[in-house]
Amino acid sequence: MSNIPEEVKKRVEELREQIEYHNYRYYVLADPVISDEEYDRLMKELIDLEKTYPELVTPDSPTQRIGDKVLDEFRTVQHSEPMLSLDNTYDETQIREFDDRVKRALELQVVEYVAELKIDGVSVALRYEKGKFVLGLTRGDGTRGEDITENLKRVHSIPLRLREPIDIEVRGEIYMPVQEFERLNNERLDLGEPLFANPRNATAGTIRQLDTSVTRRRHLDSFIYYVLNPEKYNLKTQWDALNWLKNLGFKVNPDSKLCKNIDQVIEYWSEWTHRKDDLSYWVDGVVVKVNQFELQRMLGTTAKAPRWAIAFKFPSQKVETKILDITVQVGRTGVLTPVAELEPVQLAGTVVKRASLHNFDYIEEKDIRIGDWVYIEKAGGIIPQVLYVDTNKRTGQEKKIKIPESCPICSGKVGKLNSDDVALRCLNPHCPAKLKRSLETFAARNALDIKGLGEKIIERLVDSGLVKDLADIFYLTPFELTQLGSGIGHKTIANLLSQIEQSKNAPLHKVITGLGIPMVGEKTARILSENMRSIEKIMNATVDELTQIPGIGPEVARSIREYFDDDKTKELIKKLQKAGLRLQEDQRQHEQVLAGLTFAITGVLKNFSRNQIENLIHSLSGKVTDSVTKNTDYLIVGENPGSKLDKAKSIGIKIITESEFLELIKFKAKSPQQQKLF
Ligand code: IVH
Repeated sequence: MSNIPEEVKKRVEELREQIEYHNYRYYVLADPVISDEEYDRLMKELIDLEKTYPELVTPDSPTQRIGDKVLDEFRTVQHSEPMLSLDNTYDETQIREFDDRVKRALELQVVEYVAELKIDGVSVALRYEKGKFVLGLTRGDGTRGEDITENLKRVHSIPLRLREPIDIEVRGEIYMPVQEFERLNNERLDLGEPLFANPRNATAGTIRQLDTSVTRRRHLDSFIYYVLNPEKYNLKTQWDALNWLKNLGFKVNPDSKLCKNIDQVIEYWSEWTHRKDDLSYWVDGVVVKVNQFELQRMLGTTAKAPRWAIAFKFPSQKVETKILDITVQVGRTGVLTPVAELEPVQLAGTVVKRASLHNFDYIEEKDIRIGDWVYIEKAGGIIPQVLYVDTNKRTGQEKKIKIPESCPICSGKVGKLNSDDVALRCLNPHCPAKLKRSLETFAARNALDIKGLGEKIIERLVDSGLVKDLADIFYLTPFELTQLGSGIGHKTIANLLSQIEQSKNAPLHKVITGLGIPMVGEKTARILSENMRSIEKIMNATVDELTQIPGIGPEVARSIREYFDDDKTKELIKKLQKAGLRLQEDQRQHEQVLAGLTFAITGVLKNFSRNQIENLIHSLSGKVTDSVTKNTDYLIVGENPGSKLDKAKSIGIKIITESEFLELIKFKAKSPQQQKLF
């Protein structure tokens, strides 16, 4: 340490201060004052200095957010005060009863509350010593939590250094934004892995990963709402505490409200009952807290929950129905997913007949049996899931299911990939169910788009042995198809064959999507096709070459490499080539209209769905990104724009409406021939 030049030490310290400050501007205030490039430059300078002088590395250095570590286990640590949970209320009467209890106990006519959104995430405790982040714990059993410090360092809105060098412990919620949740579930769909039922499960599963790179890549976020021993910092009320926490460097929810009485709390709750779906993260209610800390202390806590706070839940759409049967589906990668076959029931706009049971651990944990009456809900408003069993309705006739010892489709062996894996998989590489699901992926709309190749035909093609791999569909003859039996007439056959023929013209990225390479979905397929331009180049690329491509990480690169290293893949590609598929990109001129331009989109558009406009931009060689950065050329704004609009304004990105966007395309399409296209 002694022979490190003073100016290096000073510079390192300076860089850390600056980077942490810009991190705060970007992740906490969403109001950056420097460009991404400038930020990267500061970070690179610090990384280089720490490489040259490793003795200078400290646990609170911003470089610790980006390096990866694999831990052996999480140690458990005693909480400095128990982490309690909250009692729930569900309607106006119950929340008024809470208010009455509070007023009676305090002998007051009226009590002031802070109403906060109840974030659907996982709670954590964060300890700082002299302003430096030293320990992060899960709730655990409430008395002891698991040390997840390293993972929490990968959550950028958690400050590694506070803006004052104080000792403090705070608590708050770690959550996964809806957009990230959807991205992650799409990726898992590509991987053939079981989906997370909701962002809270996804957060819990992420924050407890021993490999910090997993947490780093799944962009978690935080809101802090609680400070231990507030009197130490001269804080008198929760409202002041929230503002103070924000100034200290924490991300604090901007939508909390100071309410003069319980009527205002109820007003806040009903307002957010309607507005909650506009948020970029999930909330499941309002947390109502007595504002004065003095009064909180007087009220105290029960063993489980404070008497000064309560959760006021939003009504969730749940219905009860009966499980008629539990079947098992085998996915493209062999994952066995149990599915509840339900007595059809109306829920949030659709009739639900089936609901995912996730995996066999879930069934065991919730003790779900055939014949049970269960409550179901749509996770994220989309995927129906079984929440819990109504045990009062049990008759004794319900049947437990057995965990399959072999694949229900091919009777092959089943097992888990490793002990952390919750998914049970069929280990037989020739399992027809896998081929069937692969064919579905291949024929899907975002891939080769062969409409006639639906589930039923695929079933017959595979079962009859006519199709043994994806390429076989290109070698089918009319005669073979007539052998498939009833219900498949000449017209159907002619249609199918013509669609298959047409699909040979699908652009490269669609073929790549269709192959179902683990971890390679539509977006990655596009990136690969744009950058490599032929299957052959992708097949021959090394992991290093692949990771050079922006948007391709090491894990995806390894997965691509592994896929193409398989002899069966090589054979398949040869067969596809021979069949006449377009395995390289040939750009027609009109497709280049938006080349070199990057777009971001916010709000609801009139003429296009998100997917449609993204496809249009891509087809014209433009790029679309999920967030606004300095590299964005245009932000397209629709109705009810989100925070991207503020960001674009603050960094001076061009903002255009949908019709201006269409004008832009026309303007860019220079030749009359091109203009006709629009
Ligand atoms: S206060 C003793 N405030 O809800 C203080 N909790 O169902 C208790 N939660 O365990 C926590 N948003 O994980 C509080 N604004 C908020 C919250 C919040 C979400 C969670 C927290 C708690 C759970 C209780």
